[in-house]
This record gives sequence, C-alpha cells and structure tokens, in this order.
Amino acid sequence: MKNYVLISNIIKKFNKSINVQGDKSISIRWALMASQAIGKSRAYNLLKSEDVENTLNTLKKFGIKISINKNYCEIIGNGLNGYNFNNNTIIDAGNSGTLARLVLGLLAKSNKSVIIKGDKSLSKRDFSRVIKPLNFFGVKIRSKKNKLPLVLQGTNYLRPIYFVEKKGSAQVKSCIMLASLNTPGITKIKCVKSRDHTERLFKHLKIPIKVKNISKTNQLIEVEGKKQYNGFNYNIPGDISSASFFIVLTCLSKNSKIVIKNVNINKSRTGIIDILKKMNVNIKIINKKLINNEPTGDIYVKSSGSLKAINCNSELNSRAIDEFPLIFLLCAKAKGISFFKKIGELRHKESDRLKICSKFLRNIGIKIVEKNESLKIYGNPNLKLEKKYNIKNFMKDHRIFMMSCVAALTLGGKFRISDKNSIKTSFPNFILTLKKLGANIN
Ligand code: S3P
Repeated sequence: MKNYVLISNIIKKFNKSINVQGDKSISIRWALMASQAIGKSRAYNLLKSEDVENTLNTLKKFGIKISINKNYCEIIGNGLNGYNFNNNTIIDAGNSGTLARLVLGLLAKSNKSVIIKGDKSLSKRDFSRVIKPLNFFGVKIRSKKNKLPLVLQGTNYLRPIYFVEKKGSAQVKSCIMLASLNTPGITKIKCVKSRDHTERLFKHLKIPIKVKNISKTNQLIEVEGKKQYNGFNYNIPGDISSASFFIVLTCLSKNSKIVIKNVNINKSRTGIIDILKKMNVNIKIINKKLINNEPTGDIYVKSSGSLKAINCNSELNSRAIDEFPLIFLLCAKAKGISFFKKIGELRHKESDRLKICSKFLRNIGIKIVEKNESLKIYGNPNLKLEKKYNIKNFMKDHRIFMMSCVAALTLGGKFRISDKNSIKTSFPNFILTLKKLGANIN
C-alpha cells in the first residue's frame, strides 16, 4: 500500500456529527496504572493505535496479562512493583514519548535492568528531563547523551524527592508521580501547569495526592507513596487533539458545520478552543459531563468567515501544546500578524514542529519570522493555492501529516503528502473520518 495521499480538491460543504478515537494520553495512562493495580481493570473505547499497542506490548513483556475484547481491553495487574521479567528485557516504545518517559517511573523499584529503545524520531528526543529526577529517587540510568536506547536499573531503596519542573511537561511530572507510587514518604513536585490526567486518575483511585495552586501558572503536587489501589473500569473519552483537525478543517471550509461527540474537554487540554474563540471562530461545547473524573462534551463548530490574528498569551502554550501546527495554519488565513512566544518546546516533539511548520507556511506563500522560541505569522485572508506541493515529513510526524491534509482540503492547490502511515501513531481512522465528510483523497 502506498504511503502518501494525493489531494487536489477542496472539501465541499458538510454538516455532520462525528466521533474521534479515544484519547492517547489517557489510554496510555490507564494501561500503565492498571498494570500495577491489584486485579482486573477494563477500559472501554481505548485508543487502538501504535502508541497504545506499544504500551500494551511493553506491559506484556513485564509479565502482565492483557486481553483485547470486542468492546474493551482487560488488564490483570499484580499490584505495585508487581512486574516479573528477565534481566536486560528490551522494550520498544516506538514513536511514543509518553510511554517511554512514563514507564521509566513505574520501573523505579525494579531489581532487574530494562533496555528501552524507540524509533528514529524518539531516539532523537531528550531524556535528561526524566533521567535527572529519577536519579534523585536513586534510580540508575545509562545512556549516550541522554537519548534512547537507555538502560534503567531500579532500586529497592527509593527515596522521596522534591523536584522543580520548569518546562510545563506533563510527561516529566507524570514520570515522577508514577515513581512516587513505589516510594515511601511524600514526593513533592513544584511544576508549571500542564495536562493533569495523571492527577485526576490518582484522585479517582483514591491515591493520596494534594494539588495546590501556588501561582497562576505553578502548582505544588504531593503524593504519598506505597498506597496500593485496586483494579478499575474506565471509559476513555475522545481525543481533543484528534478532534482539533476537524475543528480547524471546519473553520477553514465554507458554509460547514460539525459536531464532534464525546470529546475530553479537560481544561488543561482546551487551549485550542480559547485561542480559536479569540480568533473569532464560532465554537462551543455542549452536553458537558464528568466521566471517571474527566470532563467530556460535544464540540460544535461552524465555518469562520473572518479570522483575526492572535498575540498568544504564553500561559496557553501547554494547554494547546499539540495543536500548534493547526493553530499556525489557521493564522495563515487570519487578518493581521499573529505572534507566539516561549514555544521552544515545539522543537522537542516528534519532530521540530517550529521548524517544519515554518517551512510549510513559507512554502505556501506566508511570511514568517521564526526565532528560537517564537514565531510571527503574517496572515493572508485571501490565501488561495494553485500550485503543486510535495510535502515531505522526514520524521514521519503524525500531526504534521494530518495538518497538511487539512491545509490541502481547504486552501486549494495539488498536494502530495508523504508518510500517511504516521496516522497509526495516534489516529488511525483519520482518513476514514475525512472521507465520511466527503473529502476526496487518493
Ligand atoms: C503528553 C504530554 C505532552 C504532549 C504529548 C503527550 C502526555 O508532552 O506534547 O503529546 O501524555 O503527557 P510534554 O510532556 O513533553 O509537554
């Protein structure tokens, strides 16, 4: 099967209700937490994607029993530090930074060594951010230049830490929280706010945790370790990061409307909605519910006639971290100059998204000023493409592939977009869902 798509037609007007697949962050966290619960846990609507498959395969290598049934996935946990595996077990995290970083925390007390490797993109990413706090716990990690592959050796003598997390990284925070589960005493993290799925899951499972706001952007999290929890059932909501491709597709299409049902609308993830509202987009959330301590709702969006540029408050950065490629695309069609600051973290994702997005926008004729930590986009509301565009995606970044499809379906031109298979990472049904809306994709 070919690994690219050809798009040479703008999507016709649509008015539909869709679902997107389960949330990736929550799916991975559910599986990791279930693996150290006592007994049976079930997840409904677990995301079926490569990142989640790699998570389940990793847990199987640790001796955890997992079965996939028609409507749910079942994991039988062996309790805290209940993994059973041979020395030097090799696990492959594939493309998943979340899996690779979070699982290190769960292995903190393991008395066997584990080798963690990943694909080309993950092997370029920085692990010093989790190696440092894990070292403070007493965990030993060997690596070359803090990159994968790395070798972890846990310790029986974990000590609780106080760590200051300054990047606003949920992966770092969660890695520390998972390590704290097997650690006696109280682990403390002072951190810049970021997605709080792990905190919510801990509260849901009655694991002793305190979360205090210490300023508008900073929190202090305290976890008391060594508290065993039981298996649990969980409904995974739709992924707002996947929904966002359809939100922006609708904004940029003419006379269209969409409802995306049952999406996670956790405030730590809805930065895109706040940004879009500021840009004059007609978007609202209806049918709000709290399910398993995570808020969900239906997102309703209409085509946007006139988009306004945005000077984006950096407090929104971590709440919209995975949606910036789409937000930048929208800014290309907005009236005025948009500005984003303190967004250097985008250089450390599946690819250097600041560089790739700048290149993409320049390629379609948009003036850009790219600095190390910021981006200025000179919008053009009359932007219409006619040329041929060949979009290469050397790091096979799923979100860059999907953003390029949204651009091709709304701006005109003839696009050849490579690395279609990258959607298997987070949203295998992406093309199928586009086709349901009437998109013409070859
Ligand atoms: C994630 C956290 C974010 C995000 C990633 C998923 C998570 O990464 O970009 O896609 O599930 O914790 P950082 O922790 O590096 O910000």
